[in-house]
Amino acid sequence: MTRTAPRTDWHPASWSQYPASQQAVYPDEAGLAAIVAELSKLPPLVTSWEVDALKEHIARAQRGEAFVLQGGDCAETFEECTSENIVAKLKILLQMSVVMLYGLKKPVVRIGRMAGQYAKPRSADTETRDGESLPSFRGDLVNRSPFTRNDREPDPELILRGYERAALTLNFVRSLIDGGFADLHHPEYWDLDWVGHSATAEEYRAIVRSISDSLDFLETVSGAPVHKTQRADIYAAHEGLHLHYEQAQTRYLDRRGRWYNLTTHFPWIGMRTAALDGAHVEFFRGIANPVGIKIGPGMTREWLQGLIGVLNPNNEPGRLTLIHRFGAKAIEDHLPEMIRAVRETGSPVLWVCDPMHGNTESTAVGVKTRRFDNIVTEVEAAFAVHQSMGSYLGGVHLELTGENVTECTGGARGLTDGDLARAYKSTVDPRLNYEQAMEVAMRISGVHK
Ligand code: PEP
Ligand code: CO
Repeated sequence: MTRTAPRTDWHPASWSQYPASQQAVYPDEAGLAAIVAELSKLPPLVTSWEVDALKEHIARAQRGEAFVLQGGDCAETFEECTSENIVAKLKILLQMSVVMLYGLKKPVVRIGRMAGQYAKPRSADTETRDGESLPSFRGDLVNRSPFTRNDREPDPELILRGYERAALTLNFVRSLIDGGFADLHHPEYWDLDWVGHSATAEEYRAIVRSISDSLDFLETVSGAPVHKTQRADIYAAHEGLHLHYEQAQTRYLDRRGRWYNLTTHFPWIGMRTAALDGAHVEFFRGIANPVGIKIGPGMTREWLQGLIGVLNPNNEPGRLTLIHRFGAKAIEDHLPEMIRAVRETGSPVLWVCDPMHGNTESTAVGVKTRRFDNIVTEVEAAFAVHQSMGSYLGGVHLELTGENVTECTGGARGLTDGDLARAYKSTVDPRLNYEQAMEVAMRISGVHK
């Protein structure tokens, strides 16, 4: 993990001088260059004002004054870019954030894994079926999933299609929020259909009534309306995996004197691309966005300190978020050393727990799932370890959906391995369904013990 030469001049394409893992090989190199050039001229998806506002929120969360809720699909697909899906995702994030606000008594910063979560890391570059090997499917931004040579060939046009889908998603989210959808005075806008009777639903409604009463009380006493939620009330995030895509939307802003990656507010570096001498770290070091790093059991103290040194050399508040994903069994063994390693650097960081990616397992018949109990156990262990070390767990990172899928087992309805076949829709990692996600929110907030 040691670097051979010091990094010097940075520019949006300087990453290409470094080894880049998890990148597709485009047979049509000229086509790729033309698409990157075109995307470099198209308007950005987000603005630097929004990016800087999120950095401020993260700085506040680092100080223990706010809590971050980050959630969404493992992978978005172009086909699922529909009004129903976007609304459902928004609703579940809003509902969970209300429960957290109520329980934690802190502002909740909502960040969707959305509007750009179209590229996935894969464990192998190729997939073999019946003796035929083809490139692995790397997400809608890169290639197509059917197992044919044509579909699996990385297609540069898909980069533009991804940009457009992300723009459509953000446009709809912003319009809803501008129209008052996220206004705390109208939580009834966010009602999703609860599946039959549910204790979680009753509890949620009681929380909403209590918040509405408090708002009414405040407004009566102060004689003024409680400030309406702001425009970019939901921020966008995705794994900054596909470096051509990220590079093409990275702009130098004269008035700020810095480069911003304007595909998203908050890009993160995945577990598999965090090599200290790699291309992703090179790209991320030059952008002004708040950035996340996933850390798992393979992370060492030296590696983590090296990443912090490269990515936040000036100890800027709000810049770094560490998203730990050790798994329920391993978190207590690994997290304390990571907390100590970070302390030695002097860099402020926001600690976020991802209780999904360390808890993936396969059922007897080979279906990928996650057990609700392991997810909750990891979150609770994360709170306890941080607290015992005088550190602060300032957020959670979840894979969830507003739909009633059956992908994770357990939860109030006690879903079993046998239930998984009923509504398993994810083509990648298993997500919490609506009710399970709400239950996690209630456990985090201390509403459910
Ligand atoms: C993900 O967040 O979907 C992912 C691939 O996570 P990680 O990099 O932590 O494995
Ligand atoms: Co995932």
